[in-house]
Amino acid sequence: MRRVKTGLVGAGFIGPNHVEAARRLGFVDFVGIADRTAEAAQLRAEQLNMPKGYESLEEMLDDPEIEVIHNCTPNEFHFPVTMAAIERGKHVISDKPLALNAADARTMYEAAQAKGVVHAVTFNYRFNPLMQQARTMIARGDIGRIHFIHGHYLQDWLLYPTDYNWRLEKEGGASRCVADIGSHWCDLIGFLVGARIDQVLAEYTTVYPVRQKPKQSRIAFAQATENEEYIDYPIDTEDFASVLLRFENGIRGVFSVSQVSAGHKNGLEVEVNGGKGSLAWRQEEPNQLWIGRRSEPNGWLLKDPSLLDESVRQYASLPGGHGEAWADAFRNLMRNIYTFIAMGWSMEADKEKINFPTFADGLESNRVIEAITASAKAGGVWTKIER
Ligand SMILES: NC(=O)c1ccc[n+]([C@@H]2O[C@H](COP(=O)([O-])OP(=O)(O)OC[C@H]3O[C@@H](n4cnc5c(N)ncnc54)[C@H](O)[C@@H]3O)[C@@H](O)[C@H]2O)c1
Repeated sequence: MRRVKTGLVGAGFIGPNHVEAARRLGFVDFVGIADRTAEAAQLRAEQLNMPKGYESLEEMLDDPEIEVIHNCTPNEFHFPVTMAAIERGKHVISDKPLALNAADARTMYEAAQAKGVVHAVTFNYRFNPLMQQARTMIARGDIGRIHFIHGHYLQDWLLYPTDYNWRLEKEGGASRCVADIGSHWCDLIGFLVGARIDQVLAEYTTVYPVRQKPKQSRIAFAQATENEEYIDYPIDTEDFASVLLRFENGIRGVFSVSQVSAGHKNGLEVEVNGGKGSLAWRQEEPNQLWIGRRSEPNGWLLKDPSLLDESVRQYASLPGGHGEAWADAFRNLMRNIYTFIAMGWSMEADKEKINFPTFADGLESNRVIEAITASAKAGGVWTKIER
């Protein structure tokens, strides 16, 4: 495979995971990092063993060596960073949510298409081997016609009013929990059943209308301690949400998201019920897929390449009994994106070869987030996804 040179913007939590996943491919070279300050970029470049810590994003984008940028900045910077990169003809791999709202997401999608760059959004949960398998089983009718989809995505890292993060700030957009983790749940379910959400009805709850923001501010995951100075910061985004769904093809669904559910760390769970059976998967135990049946015993499909459909075996790179999880799914996603880039394929002329989420999926996600938020703000009324 041709070697591809790339750069990282924003080396906090997820950035280094992008780097690790892409480096595992063996043909991606990270040239450098741009971050909030030149000092931070330099330090992180040294820590992650990259040649360059850039003075600024502009300096990185001026570097002719760099073909691709990974946008791993806080959500409010997704739009300006990505638009600047597209403008310079760089391919962009953006983390989710693509933008703060659907209008910006559309602008980003249209700009990337017009410029002819490769564009991708890291909805990584699709790339777990058993999610690829579940999609194939659903598509070939193994569990019959789907009528009900349900699940949740629960976390506890914002359980205390002293927990603080940039996601809580006003610049982060009108939705927090739904945009942050509901976006993953909705993308995954749409991928599994191959159907779009048509209408939503939601309720948002803010458990802590005021949180203690440490004065040091804007750090990734912070907790104000007794001795630390903090300010009272008013919160107007949801700590948890409940959402009813109607899909275009008649499927009904419901899901909850929460960042204040004690004991749940990264509890993404999906279940699909059809006329012949059910499938269920828990992200925290990713190597097993539950198969529910009525007239036969229920079963578990364990992740084992020899038990997977031939078309999805490429997503399991270890034999049965050798666990594969979050980081491996991320690597699978990077492999699909970087193969497309290295082959020199075009998002327009080679669209049948696209096997990763694009800005079109990011736009779809922003539309869904926006409709869920509008429904909740209107007091819980059925709201159509505007397309
Ligand atoms: N796909 C996933 O599963 C997943 C998981 C976590 C986060 N994310 C997404 O990744 C993004 C980053 O989240 P995180 O948890 O890594 O945040 P973080 O706070 O840990 O890291 C953000 C990084 O961006 C840098 N930064 C801030 N402003 C910048 C600017 N203007 N220009 C350049 N760099 C800047 C910060 O210094 C920091 O290094 C978010 O959009 C988030 O939704 C996705």
